[in-house]
Amino acid sequence: MAQFNESDARRRLADNGQEHVFQFWNCLNDEGRTVLLGQIATIDFPLMNRLIDDWVRHEPAPETFRSIEPVPTIPIPDPARADAKAAWDAGEEALRAGRVGLLLVAGGQGTRLGFNGPKGAYPIGPITGKSLFAFHAEKIKGLQRRYGCVLPWYIMVSATNHAATEAFFRENGFFGLNEADIRFFEQRMVPCVDESGRFMLEGPGCLAMNPNGHGGTIPAVVENGIAQDARNRGVDTLSYFQVDNWAVQVGDPFFIGYHVQRKAEMSSKVHRKNSAREAVGVHCICDGEYRTIEYSELDIYPQLLETAEDGSLLHFAGNPAIHILDVGFIERVCSVYDRFPWHRAHKKIPCVDEAGALIKPATPNGYKFETFIFDALRFIEHEPVALEMNRVGHYTPIKQFDGANSVQAARAAMRAYWGGWLEAAGARVPRDASGAVTIDIEISPEFALWQGDFVKRAAGMAFPEDGAIAIAADGAFVAP
Ligand code: UD1
Repeated sequence: MAQFNESDARRRLADNGQEHVFQFWNCLNDEGRTVLLGQIATIDFPLMNRLIDDWVRHEPAPETFRSIEPVPTIPIPDPARADAKAAWDAGEEALRAGRVGLLLVAGGQGTRLGFNGPKGAYPIGPITGKSLFAFHAEKIKGLQRRYGCVLPWYIMVSATNHAATEAFFRENGFFGLNEADIRFFEQRMVPCVDESGRFMLEGPGCLAMNPNGHGGTIPAVVENGIAQDARNRGVDTLSYFQVDNWAVQVGDPFFIGYHVQRKAEMSSKVHRKNSAREAVGVHCICDGEYRTIEYSELDIYPQLLETAEDGSLLHFAGNPAIHILDVGFIERVCSVYDRFPWHRAHKKIPCVDEAGALIKPATPNGYKFETFIFDALRFIEHEPVALEMNRVGHYTPIKQFDGANSVQAARAAMRAYWGGWLEAAGARVPRDASGAVTIDIEISPEFALWQGDFVKRAAGMAFPEDGAIAIAADGAFVAP
């Protein structure tokens, strides 16, 4: 993006009714001015005018559908089923052939967790303090060893956390992965606007901007040469996951297998929602088109809350935000990215007042705009591929410290998941009266990716009789 000079920027702002952005110009030093001009150069003014008109000056009517049907799903894979066995084999073949890459979205601001740093640096391991990034990296190492392949790891960051994320990887020696196989790339940012449609300033010389949502993955993959890098490596299948899900099975052979066998462009995992109002999106078919409806819109589409006679949810397919995207599909939908819907969030956005003093609002005072990756599903040209999965061992997102989807819940899930593995391998695992495992447990995914592997590799190991159990990549016990 070409840098603007002062008069270009002033003209551009004035033409779009945003000249107040320059109100502190005279107080800025050269460096501050350069930063501000750089931000202005990235703004897509026609887009912002459209968003402000559609979403701030008017309240758009929600989309209406004649029908909303549950998405057809593939049941949880059971290797005893022929289709699942065939999918597993096809997935393993794609992994061995080096067709698979990993696409992690880690550009979000993670404000709910209240952690000062990139969310992936959060020390989720209850015993080792291992970070979310480290868990993901150990899974990748486990897969690379098992399939004798390289899984390039593409990590989407944003201007808010790019430097800190890269520094964290560097400090940790790229977690033992080959640095050349890890590529960080930035998504675009969009200005935050106040309730009258004016761009907000987070400092006298700095616009308040937010990453453009994980839908921004689509243009970011193309614009940053990631799609081309994948093609150069012979990779056509990208396994997409979110940084906050410690448990995600990255590069899951079943999932990859169903995707490649069905020649899908974009596939999704789904899980059974644990309540009608669980804070996850819902996969469904709206007027014949594959959609995911966000949990914040459940009251607009109350049919998504309906239950069958036996009390089960008709629309059970929750969105764990785990997908597979074809490189060619990303390139194709990039050319129609301007047709992606934008979503508006009313937020508390710190900003400066007319005197340049920082205000931390107690109530929402402005809007952030984002696009969502699952809105790409409406562009697929094949039958939906929605694979049901168990939650345990697949989906334990960390959105906050305590309560649902929290650090505490993730650690409880680790106890339950790995407690079962230890018992399968003959260990005695203490449980309370309700059956919950009472010790902390951590097993390096590099030591074992799945329970079957663990049981084989742990044969003959003498497990500690009491206290927490942590097993490192080489099978050694880690002292708490
Ligand atoms: C998201 C999904 C929801 C799903 C749930 C599963 C949305 C709008 N909804 O909810 O359907 O059921 O996860 O856990 O996403 N990110 C970026 N760039 C951005 C914004 C986000 O990379 O601009 C990344 C974050 O780093 C994170 C992920 O996307 O890895 C999810 O973002 P988050 O805001 O936590 O989504 P949720 O509202 O929890």
